[in-house]
Amino acid sequence: MKVLVTGGAGYIGSHTCVALIEAGYDVVIVDNFDNSHHEVVNRIDRITGRRPFNEPGDIRDRAFLEMVLERHRCDAVIHFAGLKAVGESAEKPLNYYDCNILGSLRLLQAMRTVGLKKLVFSSTATVYGTPIYLPYDENHPLSPTSVYGRTKLLVEAMLKDLFDSDPTWCISILRYFNPVGAHESGLIGEDPKGIPNNLMPLISQVASGRRQKLTIWGNDYATPDGTGVRDYIHVSDLAEGHVKALQKLEEPMCKPINLGCGKGYSVLEVINEFEHVSNRKINYEVGPRRAGDIGEFFANPATAETELNWRAKRDLSTMCKDMWNFQVKNPDGYK
Ligand code: NAD
Ligand code: UD1
Repeated sequence: MKVLVTGGAGYIGSHTCVALIEAGYDVVIVDNFDNSHHEVVNRIDRITGRRPFNEPGDIRDRAFLEMVLERHRCDAVIHFAGLKAVGESAEKPLNYYDCNILGSLRLLQAMRTVGLKKLVFSSTATVYGTPIYLPYDENHPLSPTSVYGRTKLLVEAMLKDLFDSDPTWCISILRYFNPVGAHESGLIGEDPKGIPNNLMPLISQVASGRRQKLTIWGNDYATPDGTGVRDYIHVSDLAEGHVKALQKLEEPMCKPINLGCGKGYSVLEVINEFEHVSNRKINYEVGPRRAGDIGEFFANPATAETELNWRAKRDLSTMCKDMWNFQVKNPDGYK
């Protein structure tokens, strides 16, 4: 079986390509490399011993997508390609609507043209917005607070409308919590451009000395130690969740599924664990709350367990250890 992976050179996409190849799938990557490096394809080859097909290009180019789908006779698509920075999405909303919404629309049109109706879509827990109750389950109301989150929710709506019009589609909508960590080999991992926004890459860069210190955005939340609590999930667990979701695309459906661990850790707990595994001191200061931040959220992962027979296996220590291993082996990222 051959799978087209849009955004397959990116952080989550590259780990999913490895998991797919290890599960016996052939993989075709479509990526415009706006936020990734060509070297990733070599690394996937080194880990798995099988080189994915690489079709550089943009998902907004429908004719290109149709050509790739037909050339490779793909059986399914996993759709990661998109823009994902919350702050940037407020500054450049049209870029986000263009890439995330128009890109997804063009992909669906191309799939329909070639008669391919199996899709796994990358969504996010951000679609839930401010928690009305926790843990979030898939029935929690959807009210994203950022442009980025709204583009993801609109694509979810597009997929549901498509399925309602043609219930022969098989669509899995995966809502990720906070992906962190790296492949155990240290060959692939997260290599953010510029100053990272997310906690784990920042901690990792402070531990390595690439950055001086970290600011904890608020320690006055209603959490055990006052710092923000999140449901961190190892990227390799997430990747394996995609393989399971793909294997379930045998019957028509359009379903959202949370991929998280179901357990939250505070910023201080993550810092402490990272210090422990790296044997480095993480310098930090406490600053004000970050605008738009939520104190605490975590997943109810029960649907993934019953529907996909999947649950996250790797703990916080493994997440930090693998993140640090990638940082040490690639001090300047893929460059
Ligand atoms: P990433 O930026 O590392 O990967 C995205 C990839 O898509 C990159 O390689 C980029 O070059 C490519 N791309 C972007 N626009 C494209 C286009 N128009 N045409 C072709 N390729 C394009 O991001 P990631 O962290 O791997 O995230 C993958 C997906 O998961 C995204 O859709 C993101 O919104 C979603 N997601 C990520 C997180 C997270 O914390 N990383 C959380 C929830 C959901
Ligand atoms: C962010 C995004 C969210 C996205 C998620 C993916 C925002 C507002 N939200 O969420 O849309 O789906 O990443 O992983 O950007 N923290 C610090 N100092 C820092 C950075 C973070 O204290 O320098 C804290 C945050 O306040 C939070 C926790 O660390 O409590 C995790 O932050 P982060 O990694 O940015 O993830 P989210 O806030 O969950």
